[in-house]
Amino acid sequence: MTVEVAPGAGFCFGVKRALRLAFEAARESDGPVVTLGPIIHNPQVVERLESEGLRVVQTLDEIDSGTLVVRSHGLPGPILDEAERRGLRIVDATCPFVKQVQDRAKELEREGYSVVVVGEEDHPEVLSITGSLERPALVVNGPKGLDSIGEHDRVGVVCQTTQPPERLRSVIVGLLSKAPELKVFNTICEATFERQAHALELAKRAEVMLVVGGRNSANTRRLWELCREATCDAYHIETADEFDPGWIQGADLVGITGGASTPQWIIDDLVAVVESAMASGRTGGGTPPSVGSS
Ligand code: F3S
Repeated sequence: MTVEVAPGAGFCFGVKRALRLAFEAARESDGPVVTLGPIIHNPQVVERLESEGLRVVQTLDEIDSGTLVVRSHGLPGPILDEAERRGLRIVDATCPFVKQVQDRAKELEREGYSVVVVGEEDHPEVLSITGSLERPALVVNGPKGLDSIGEHDRVGVVCQTTQPPERLRSVIVGLLSKAPELKVFNTICEATFERQAHALELAKRAEVMLVVGGRNSANTRRLWELCREATCDAYHIETADEFDPGWIQGADLVGITGGASTPQWIIDDLVAVVESAMASGRTGGGTPPSVGSS
């Protein structure tokens, strides 16, 4: 029995950067330090930040002074303007790749394109993109969403950074028959692309995949969906506490991956728990475990 962790599992560049900025702000600021919504979609990390003094609020009305750390998903332009108007110090931890999507969408709007965003309508990143535009954008998470699109001469497309490439592709194909002029920016983040590809490659070889990360993390959920589609048993858990040794009974290879907002310590904990279950024979397997990290 072997445990293998998919390469690229866990924190991405944008999340590491956002957390560094948030910890610095919490350490250096005198007044309250807040984020509008959780800085990343991982409850365990948010809890740690709270213990350092960074509070999560839901609206700007909950803070009248201090520092606002803009989370990695970004914020709509009007909310940032309002925060400035209220005199809050702003630490912008928006991932530069998310910023790029916002800029591309604005560019398309300026050039007169009707903007289509491929992504999840209620996801904070998507809200930060559509909320930075002057006119309403159409948000679709597949070609079906295009049924409501009217006759547009010019359609411009951007994509939520963590969407799977097949979804973007299917929307583009759907648009070919609807828009005489189509301009597409492939704004899927490279880290997402690689993480998904590595998870898929491992899921095809493993009998069981454990996908660890926040239940509110869209990219973690997407990893789990991909692993399930790869015909192996796949489980989405938030921490090692939720792992059931019965899941890996009889498996020769157990794969582990984690979303962009999953810290290394949660992945390490899970590896240790799985190893220990294997070693104690609680899974029904008899061979001693080994851990790969390719
Ligand atoms: Fe940024 Fe890509 Fe991570 S968009 S937050 S580096 S998944």
